[in-house]
Amino acid sequence: MREGMVVPAIAIIIAALCVASAVLLVDGAKGEELTTLLSNGFTATHAAGATAPFEPVLHAPNGVFAFGFLRVGSASLDLAVVHLSSSFPLWSASPTRLGDWSRPATLTFDSSLVLTDPEHGVLWQTLNTIGDTVVLLDSSNLVVRRYAKPMPAWQSFDNPSDTLVLDQNFTVSSPPLISKNRRFALRLGKSYMALHMESYGGRAMPMYWKHTALQSQPENATQPPVYGCLDGRGFFGLYLEGGGQKVDVLSFDTFAQSITGVFRRMTLEDDGNLRAYYWTSESKAWTSDYKAISERCGLPTSCGAYGLCVPGEAQCQCLNDSPSTSPPCHAEETTDLCAGNGDGQLFDVVRRKRVSVAYKEELPFQTNKTAAECEQACAANCSCWGALHNAASGYCYPIDFPVETLLYEADDRKVGYFKVRKLPSPKRPGMSPGETAATAVLSLILAGLAAAGAYIGYRVWERKSRRRAGMEQELVPGPYKDLKYMASSNNSFKA
Ligand SMILES: *[C@@H]1O[C@H](CO)[C@@H](O)[C@H](O)[C@H]1NC(C)=O
Ligand SMILES: *[C@@H]1O[C@H](CO)[C@@H](O)[C@H](O)[C@H]1NC(C)=O
Ligand SMILES: *[C@@H]1O[C@H](CO)[C@@H](O)[C@H](O)[C@H]1NC(C)=O
Ligand SMILES: *[C@@H]1O[C@H](CO)[C@@H](O)[C@H](O)[C@H]1NC(C)=O
Repeated sequence: MREGMVVPAIAIIIAALCVASAVLLVDGAKGEELTTLLSNGFTATHAAGATAPFEPVLHAPNGVFAFGFLRVGSASLDLAVVHLSSSFPLWSASPTRLGDWSRPATLTFDSSLVLTDPEHGVLWQTLNTIGDTVVLLDSSNLVVRRYAKPMPAWQSFDNPSDTLVLDQNFTVSSPPLISKNRRFALRLGKSYMALHMESYGGRAMPMYWKHTALQSQPENATQPPVYGCLDGRGFFGLYLEGGGQKVDVLSFDTFAQSITGVFRRMTLEDDGNLRAYYWTSESKAWTSDYKAISERCGLPTSCGAYGLCVPGEAQCQCLNDSPSTSPPCHAEETTDLCAGNGDGQLFDVVRRKRVSVAYKEELPFQTNKTAAECEQACAANCSCWGALHNAASGYCYPIDFPVETLLYEADDRKVGYFKVRKLPSPKRPGMSPGETAATAVLSLILAGLAAAGAYIGYRVWERKSRRRAGMEQELVPGPYKDLKYMASSNNSFKA
């Protein structure tokens, strides 16, 4: 037990040293030659189990960005363009199958960039690319070029992961921005930008935030689609393709302050919010100056599946329980209720008053319905997970995706009907009263022993950590945030 508590602390110290050394490497190497161009025939091999979490193979001439092997979570490998001062990955290859950090992996450039792993072969490559050189521009754009051609054969700016940077065009034909946990996406429509929930059984991708370009005319068929671009003056602009006419701006908090010369990014984060940040070398930190959704209760999964978010208090409760029950209320569902095996009802029902959803403007609805009609339509449809009804307006909102966080509204006319998947029934029908009592007594004894053990362990740990405190203070003031990010990528939904 004691060992178990000391090991994570040591791991944190080692990780902090690793991040620091990755940064130092570049600082120290400033005077030396850095690789700024890859030619055909280039090969780099990742050293299996390398201690530094980032191994650069190509640098931007300004020394601010580098491209190389990045450790993701504790043991996975990806290719990334990293902002060196913050260790933040601005772009990553994000293949369906990530590499394994503890095995060698090879990056080659032979007309196209290819990442291979001895066990699984090709993990990722720039498809249909014929290039002669690879460079990392001062904008952080990774570009594969053909000598004679001015247009890049491939560029990372056309293949964003979860982040957009200054002067990167985000268009209707760009792949969507996908959060690291792969649960949320940002897409452009012809005249709007929107956030969607992803991977809910693949059937529906419900929209939970939408911003329509103010001065565009969606109904005008000859008007070209919009594209978005992050501007150094502190806004995200929407423009018409072709002419570049500006049709809207999302201005950030720093817009009026005319802060120039700072590096900016906009990232779709794991909580489903889209936030903008700027980096200043004085503060050595990312400062957020924009978020698409301002309240926690406005986020689609802030209290988890079957959670209820109470605004103001921003407190999470569970849909079906007393207020004291805290989330997570239920495991996330990823398939619908249609795949029944024929033996009876697959779900239980929960009904609740004073309930709504933060993004109902973005959901399809039916009008002129009674609460009973609203509920019945959902009950009879196996791809429906719930229905919200407003008796004041007669609006009915069927929820055709697994139930996520709902919003508390102090209005008795707002009611909800929700399906909860029945757990597979246990093989043995219940325990006898005697068995139950014996189990309870045994559980109490075990719980008591565990508590005593935990207390002793805690005292030992406390004494050790007091002794260690001085040492940690010298080692830890590195980029805490990056460590947190690395750790959080661990529990992602990456397939
Ligand atoms: C972004 O779009 C503008 C206008 O179409 C264009 O001039 C510029 O070269 C594009 N930038 C990149 C990096 O493709
Ligand atoms: C439709 O959009 C095009 C291009 O922006 C513009 O020239 C035209 O006047 C618009 N038509 C109408 C009816 O607004
Ligand atoms: C709403 O329903 C009532 C009764 O079913 C019907 O008389 C009325 O025409 C409907 N209104 C609309 C707008 O559909
Ligand atoms: C069931 O619900 C889905 C999603 O709301 C809808 O597309 C479909 O038409 C419904 N099916 C029936 C039979 O009503």
